[in-house]
Amino acid sequence: MPELVRYEVKDRVAVITIDNPPVNALSPAVWTGIDEAVARANADPAADAIVIIGAGTTFIAGADIKVFDLFKTPHDSMARSETTHALLRRLEDSTKPLVAAIHGNALGGGMEVAMSCHFRVAARDAKIGQPEVLLGIIPGAGGTQRLPRLAGVEAALKMCTDGKAVPAAAAKGGAIDEIVDGDLLTGAIAFAARKAAARETRKTRDIALSGDQITRGLAACAAARDALAKTARGQRAPFAAIDAIEAGLQLGFDRGSVRERELFAECVVSTESKALRHLFFAEREVAKIPDVPKDTPTLEIRRAAVVGAGTMGGGIAMNYANAGIPVLLKEIDQAALDRGLATIRRNYEVSMSKGKLTPEQLEKTLALITPTTSYDGFDRVDIVTEAVFENMDLKKQTFAELGRVTRPDCILASNSSTLDIDEFGRASGRPAQVLGHHYFSPANVMKLLEIVRGRETGKDVLATSLKLAKRLGKVGVVVGNCFGFVANRMLAYYMREAYLLLEEGASVPQIDNALTAFGLPVGPFGMQDIAGIDVGARIRQYLKSIGKSRAEGPQSEVPDRLYEMGRYGQKTGAGWYKYDAPGSRNRTPDPLIDTLAQEAAAKRGITRRPITDDEIIARITTALANEGARVLDEGFALRAGDIDVVYVYGFGFPRHRGGPMFYADTVGLPTVLARVKEYRARFGDYWQPAPLLERLVAEGRGFYTGAAAAV
Ligand code: CAA
Repeated sequence: MPELVRYEVKDRVAVITIDNPPVNALSPAVWTGIDEAVARANADPAADAIVIIGAGTTFIAGADIKVFDLFKTPHDSMARSETTHALLRRLEDSTKPLVAAIHGNALGGGMEVAMSCHFRVAARDAKIGQPEVLLGIIPGAGGTQRLPRLAGVEAALKMCTDGKAVPAAAAKGGAIDEIVDGDLLTGAIAFAARKAAARETRKTRDIALSGDQITRGLAACAAARDALAKTARGQRAPFAAIDAIEAGLQLGFDRGSVRERELFAECVVSTESKALRHLFFAEREVAKIPDVPKDTPTLEIRRAAVVGAGTMGGGIAMNYANAGIPVLLKEIDQAALDRGLATIRRNYEVSMSKGKLTPEQLEKTLALITPTTSYDGFDRVDIVTEAVFENMDLKKQTFAELGRVTRPDCILASNSSTLDIDEFGRASGRPAQVLGHHYFSPANVMKLLEIVRGRETGKDVLATSLKLAKRLGKVGVVVGNCFGFVANRMLAYYMREAYLLLEEGASVPQIDNALTAFGLPVGPFGMQDIAGIDVGARIRQYLKSIGKSRAEGPQSEVPDRLYEMGRYGQKTGAGWYKYDAPGSRNRTPDPLIDTLAQEAAAKRGITRRPITDDEIIARITTALANEGARVLDEGFALRAGDIDVVYVYGFGFPRHRGGPMFYADTVGLPTVLARVKEYRARFGDYWQPAPLLERLVAEGRGFYTGAAAAV
């Protein structure tokens, strides 16, 4: 095994190289290795200065996230942090100039190591950041104390509360002292030698903040807190980061550092942090398919085509164009094509007005989309995504045509949200090339891509889709070919409960507000008004015609009555809410909905009653977890974590709750099962415990090994 931390001397500069692939994470052995190497350099007569650099593609991406699982109590964390803080002080106390040479990323603990050096030089494309809040923690190795001294309080507050990495080049003059063009190590050695010649060292902790800086910094802390009250509802870590920075301003470096350790210890054992750490690994795990090894050959996607220029098709074409992939966009006639293209242009113009796109970029991206009403050129594309109307016959006919007009190795993907992918495979005549690429509306914005595996889908086609998802900026999750796949299958249970709660006595605003307070960006009724009540109604009509329903149990008549009234949501100016005008987002509750709910309740013989917000959350999350357990047991999702990722990215389930399956573990599966049984007794036999839920409870386990006990 290669040494994790290497030591050598070049041109009288000690070079300490961290070599812990893939991202040089700070495992306990790496921390010790750095400490020993800096001590060795200080004692080495052959070295006048020291450079710390990362091997491979990056500096240090932070602490090893898995280590946090070892902290069972805040006390465990405090003990560990004290050791780390002392270690970083020893680095800072180096008598020889100590220089961090940053390429790739200096993140979290990596940035904190860099800030404990006397100077930082960086490659022009390097990035620095304190992403800890994204893991539900705060910088715990002095970051909240050293960053304000180097970068200024405002910049530190931003980096520590939004977690976004910033380009090193933009931090020049603050956290970064010099940008090196050309070989980084050569530049860093030359920089270190200059500092040695000038006998220059600088401890970040000794950089004093002026009275004025402190006053302005404290005001910035208060402003940041106010801003986060709106955007980070229900989360602790971003506020804890502000508290730690504020403590440093009020109490000075040493006492501020103690406060940082306390706040870190509080956060690292929180459910919020466990949930976010779970998602960090779950998001990476989704790309691993047990029978599709990492080295499975993939097809190169150079050109693409999309059939159907409606809302979804247009958004999908934009995804390809945004990734620089030329795409043919086919519609049945010129008028439909023109409408689709006008929408695409409007979407790009909105991005331009927000400063996200220059006029040149807009034209360049649009030029990658070639409109067409024929299949000309389809023999040259590597993938086609079908996005025609959700109708089996129409889709089968499209796949039959695609089978004829494309190359035999061309991937044929369907954006269907419900229909059987295998039928399309058969219609195309080459099922190995066929699968689902289910995007979420708006397709150019939402990050989830359900990759639906058909019975005969080729492994190379799956591997290519996963790689392509990344290129398109999506999180690709492979799911099985069941009705509604994973996302919409579970959504049906979420919506069933929302409708029934309304009939039983809750109001539309109460249900929506309970869910937004829980952390969702929008409640079920607000979401329907955005998506269009007509869309759901048409799907229900189709299902009725084939004798199916999306979720077992009573089907509320209220959404269909709204549809009959032409209340389709925001676009018609009325839906579950009233809007100022068609297209407006300004809404007010509508008493008509309560009347409709009362009528529906009367027909079903239900006495309406007051319903608490707790019941709303319990009913909805229990329905999700119970159906999720079925999806998992039936093999339509590979892992519970995949379901969490689907729901977080598809429907905005709050990340800090870890997804519906992780959340169920935090509630406790015995409680979840008890609720299902209670609901069965109260509401009817359509509530049935999922067999997996019963098995896990009987075995004393959670969806995640050990998670039930750990949370
Ligand atoms: N600890 C443990 N494993 C890590 C890790 C970390 N800090 N960072 C990345 N990895 C692992 C990933 O899980 C992944 O493993 P698999 O290949 O087994 O799935 C592998 O390294 C490669 O990671 P990515 O797939 O994410 O690679 P990428 O090139 O797309 O992104 C990255 C690289 C930008 C560094 C990204 O991995 C990342 O953002 N990492 C986390 C950075 C972070 O949050 N650091 C702060 C840690 S907390 C801390 O440091 C607290 C403190 O104050 C001391």
